[in-house]
This record gives sequence, C-alpha cells and structure tokens, in this order.
Amino acid sequence: MASLKSGIMLRSMRTQDISKVQELVARDGGSLFSFVDLVVYCLQAGYEAVVADHDGKIVGIAAGKHMKTKSHIDLVCVSKEHRGNGIATSLLSEFKAHAQGNAIYLEVDVKNLAAQRLYASLGYETTQVIPQYYLKSNALEMRAHEVVA
Ligand SMILES: CC(C)(COP(=O)(O)OP(=O)(O)OC[C@H]1O[C@@H](n2cnc3c(N)ncnc32)[C@H](O)[C@@H]1OP(=O)(O)O)[C@@H](O)C(=O)NCCC(=O)NCCS
Repeated sequence: MASLKSGIMLRSMRTQDISKVQELVARDGGSLFSFVDLVVYCLQAGYEAVVADHDGKIVGIAAGKHMKTKSHIDLVCVSKEHRGNGIATSLLSEFKAHAQGNAIYLEVDVKNLAAQRLYASLGYETTQVIPQYYLKSNALEMRAHEVVA
C-alpha cells in the first residue's frame, strides 16, 4: 500500500495488529474499544481498517464499513507523537478509495474541533446533530458526498 514521506506505510490491518490498535486507541483516542470489540468488529461484513505502520508500530488507524449504498467511518485515531503530519488525511483518503463512490458518514463529538476541521478539510459537511450520541455529549453527523461518475 501507500508509503508516506516520513517512512510510514499505510496498509490493511491484520489480526495480529489488533492488540496494538487497542493500545493506541485506549492511550490516544479517548475511545473505549476493548480487544474483543475490535475482534468482533473485524468480522463484520464490509469492514475495512487501514493502519499507519511505522517500523512495525501502529501509529494510526481509520476503520469503517462499506455497505451497499453508503460507507461509514467508525474509528479514526493517530498517536499523539505523530499528529499534524497528514496521517489521518492519508488514512481517510485510502478508506475513501475503497468506498466505490458511496457517500461516507461519520459521527464526531460536537466538542472535538480538531477532528471536525480534519473532516471539513476533506469535504465532509454536517448533516445533523445527534443528541446524546455519546455518554456526555452530542454528535455531529458528517457526510462526504458520493462521487458521481
Ligand atoms: C483528529 C486526529 C485523527 C487528526 O490526526 P492527524 O494525523 O494529526 O490529522 P492530519 O495531520 O491529517 O490533519 C489534517 C487537518 O485536520 C485539522 N486538524 C488536525 N488536528 C488538528 C488540531 N489539533 N487542531 C486543529 N485542527 C486540526 C487541520 O485542518 C489539519 O490540516 P492542516 O495540518 O493543514 O492544518 C487526531 O488528532 C486524533 O487521533 N485525535 C484523537 C482521536 C479522535 O478525536 N478521533 C476522531 C474521532 S471522530
């Protein structure tokens, strides 16, 4: 798969990466994905996970599902020490490349301005506010338009 300037490779997640991804997300993602959550997640139809690999260390992930008429991003995280280098942008571009023209949806915490700026820079627009989507806050649903051939 693609190689970034910094020597970071983008590739599909493998089952042996799951514990590293779980550690990354627990440490730097602020999300509560257990190891079992991630294993079950990987078994879903249409699932896709792209990781950023730096010498065998997983420093970023974007994961979601491709369905018949739309795709959905479930998880985006880049390790704190590698942020600001375009890794999330590259991971999301790779995910989009496999979306077969689908519109791509995601939810983001209304307070997570960094992620909202990332998505806006990639053409995502807010479609609705989802009250109480998270335990303590609302979410914005954002959508990147389908590619019309
Ligand atoms: C949000 C996150 C994935 C961004 O990863 P990243 O690799 O640093 O993002 P990129 O370098 O590709 O940034 C692309 C754009 O996003 C925006 N952005 C990213 N981080 C930002 C920050 N801290 N503050 C403001 N804007 C930010 C900028 O517009 C940036 O473009 P620029 O560098 O030209 O200004 C990362 O901060 C992260 O893992 N956060 C914790 C988990 C999380 O919030 N995930 C999203 C849940 S919906």
